[in-house]
Amino acid sequence: MRIIHTVAELRTALGSQSNVGFVPTMGNLHAGHISLVKIARQHAKTVVVSIFVNPLQFGANEDFGKYPRTLQADCEKLQAAGTDIVFAPSVEEVYPDFDGKQLNQTMTITPPPLADTLCGASRPGHFSGVATVVMKLFNMVFYNTAQPNVAVFGKKDFQQLLVIRQLVRQFNLPIKIIAAETGREADGLAMSSRNGYLSPQERQQATELHQALRLVIDHIASGNRDFASLQATAENNLREKGWLVDYVAVRSVHDLTEPSSTDKQLMVLGAAKLGNTRLIDNIEITLD
Ligand code: PAF
Repeated sequence: MRIIHTVAELRTALGSQSNVGFVPTMGNLHAGHISLVKIARQHAKTVVVSIFVNPLQFGANEDFGKYPRTLQADCEKLQAAGTDIVFAPSVEEVYPDFDGKQLNQTMTITPPPLADTLCGASRPGHFSGVATVVMKLFNMVFYNTAQPNVAVFGKKDFQQLLVIRQLVRQFNLPIKIIAAETGREADGLAMSSRNGYLSPQERQQATELHQALRLVIDHIASGNRDFASLQATAENNLREKGWLVDYVAVRSVHDLTEPSSTDKQLMVLGAAKLGNTRLIDNIEITLD
């Protein structure tokens, strides 16, 4: 496994590889990330994993500064998972116009309106930052390579997955996006690097978000279609338990719009803060 820090070195290393599998990450890797790498391994001859904490997708008051940087431990896990190349660029390498403080001169991608709802509503600019860095990483990794190329994204960040699918579709990128199931701890908590911020007591409580979504799913499965009241009840229950709730929402799985009466594939999504830690989760349901 090679650890590479510059685009020039990456392109030399990849040469004319024709079957690249790519997993973009921000590091601090857990079992959920490793499952994405293993999926990439099944689909590609050469597996590239990027580790880059992208400043452009963090708001001014978010956790960019304290986001855990654990390159050495990450590389050990990636080596064991069969990664060929770890690409860990600096901020200056990804954003050449970064002046050490600001990214003002950076050209960005404006995602479609689906990025303005749910997490996008409470994290303005977040999905523009994600789409911009993913476009850049795709251009760095898939340069000079022929199809088939694949990139693997987790379903936990479901809105992100839809934004990336639109990016690939609307910019005609020759990349197949593979969606991987959410990795979960034994009590149902979705795996996330941010779980590491939770105190032991918060960690015990954290599973309540998943339980709240599961309850909404159970009601829908038994025929309840009053989504507005299901959402409000779930949000209130979480608030009563001490969560600062962003949203619990029942949406169409295709574009995250509010479901019509004929929509059969739904997604129940939630985002809420426990103490200072913002957690997200979702569960899909297909109606018969
Ligand atoms: O999901 C993430 O870890 C990040 O949003 C991504 C896709 C690596 C872009 O920075």
